[in-house]
Amino acid sequence: MYLLLHEGVTNNTSFMQAIGEMDTYFRDQIASRREVPGEDLITFLLDAEMDGQPLSDEHIIGTLRLLLIAGIDTTWSAIGASLWHLAKHPQDRRRLVAEPALMPTAVEEFLRAYAPVTMARQVVRETTVGGCPFKERQMVMLPFPAANRDPEVFSDADRVLIDRAENRHATFGLGIHRCIGSNLARMEITVAIEEWLVRIPEFKLTNPDDVTWSHGAVRGPRRLPVTFG
Ligand code: HEM
Repeated sequence: MYLLLHEGVTNNTSFMQAIGEMDTYFRDQIASRREVPGEDLITFLLDAEMDGQPLSDEHIIGTLRLLLIAGIDTTWSAIGASLWHLAKHPQDRRRLVAEPALMPTAVEEFLRAYAPVTMARQVVRETTVGGCPFKERQMVMLPFPAANRDPEVFSDADRVLIDRAENRHATFGLGIHRCIGSNLARMEITVAIEEWLVRIPEFKLTNPDDVTWSHGAVRGPRRLPVTFG
């Protein structure tokens, strides 16, 4: 079976076309909520105010676009990486099938070990962190996946332990911009792995060399050929 998770954007014209279609879709949704309000996020955003002013349509579309993209690429990457691990580690897979109560620690451990998201920030004023000087306007990477393997924080940091009890990873970021969808993501990953293991408890990589990974800020497998049984 071929798990084709997502090939990545390779064609700029179709990318721009897709962005255009997405915006049209969001604009239609906003227009229909203006006519008939509902009990949903778009209606909430239409009613919201910032500094006493309603949000502009551009602001609302930007928010919806962020939510859609932040919620898709990340979770399928996390689910793909978890399945990749389980395909390669029959002991963990069988243990998870036999002891489903381990699911919460296993999901947290997959999130730690295969953290999909790396972010960046722009430095607002000159400073020094950990002896490293930063200048105004420089860009800085926030490699959450590397932080998750810090040996001073995690024992056996490079080992995936599906029953790891303490797991204060940084996969969803830290601070004010920490992921707003983290618990939804956890639920999606849990349901996906649980349902997969009920139906397909035995599977392995068809050929490890055929697995491909995404590049860029969101990392996860994009082609994951697995054989059932
Ligand atoms: C495994 C899945 C996910 C991972 C690893 C992840 C990771 C992250 C990270 C690291 C950040 C912080 C970015 C920063 O500090 O600049 C973030 C922010 C955000 N995430 Fe997620 N995310 C996931 C799923 C989701 C889902 C399912 C949603 C919504 C449906 C979502 C919506 C957002 C939004 C809106 C922000 C921006 C928050 C802000 O800037 O205040 N994410 N996410």
